Amino acid sequence: MLIAPSLLNANFANLQTDIEMINQSVADWIHIDVMDGVFVPNISFGQPVVSHIKKHAKKPLDVHVMIVDPDRYIHSFKEVGADILTVHAEACTHLHRTLTHIKQSGMKAGVALNPHTPVSVLENVLENCDLVMIMSVNPGFGGQKFIENTYRKIEDLVVLKNKFNPNLLIEVDGGVNLENARKLSDSGANVLVAGYSIFADKNPASVIEKMKQVS
Ligand code: DX5
Ligand code: ZN
Repeated sequence: MLIAPSLLNANFANLQTDIEMINQSVADWIHIDVMDGVFVPNISFGQPVVSHIKKHAKKPLDVHVMIVDPDRYIHSFKEVGADILTVHAEACTHLHRTLTHIKQSGMKAGVALNPHTPVSVLENVLENCDLVMIMSVNPGFGGQKFIENTYRKIEDLVVLKNKFNPNLLIEVDGGVNLENARKLSDSGANVLVAGYSIFADKNPASVIEKMKQVS
């Protein structure tokens, strides 16, 4: 199981400290949430902040863009150091083209699905994805309640994964904590994103370590 702490819940006035904590921890990736205030009802930060994060990060940057028309920014996210770029299926009119561009740019290509979007929409592009992110909350904010239907959705995706792309990574994002990590792992998840459950704890590195152990 790979663990990707989400910086959305970090201290934005002192990101370097939180990045160093992740560097020293057993976390695998650093999850970065980019929001445009249009696709989701919140604005976070963009490429200039990602480029500063990259200067300090010793782990791959897992960039989750919650923005409309992400094709416009594929190149610029590569330039600022994204290693994995995940776009929303709901935001892409030509998803196959978008995934192809992300890969051609030298990044791993991910697709995220909102809670209402069935995994079946990805059947014809699964071979073009390195990763599928199942959103277990409606995107836009950290610290929301986990949606229980997620387990069933992961199991549905595992069926497609076995058929079309056995190497596919299944990432879960939203409301992940030490209570649900094991069941998510048992359902077939390979990557867990966690923000609130890590950064609200007085010892974030130990939560990361426990999450790695239980999952
Ligand atoms: C939500 C973001 C998540 C968020 C997860 O839109 O995509 O990555 O930071 O945070 P928690 O773990 O607090 O739900
Ligand atoms: Zn995210």
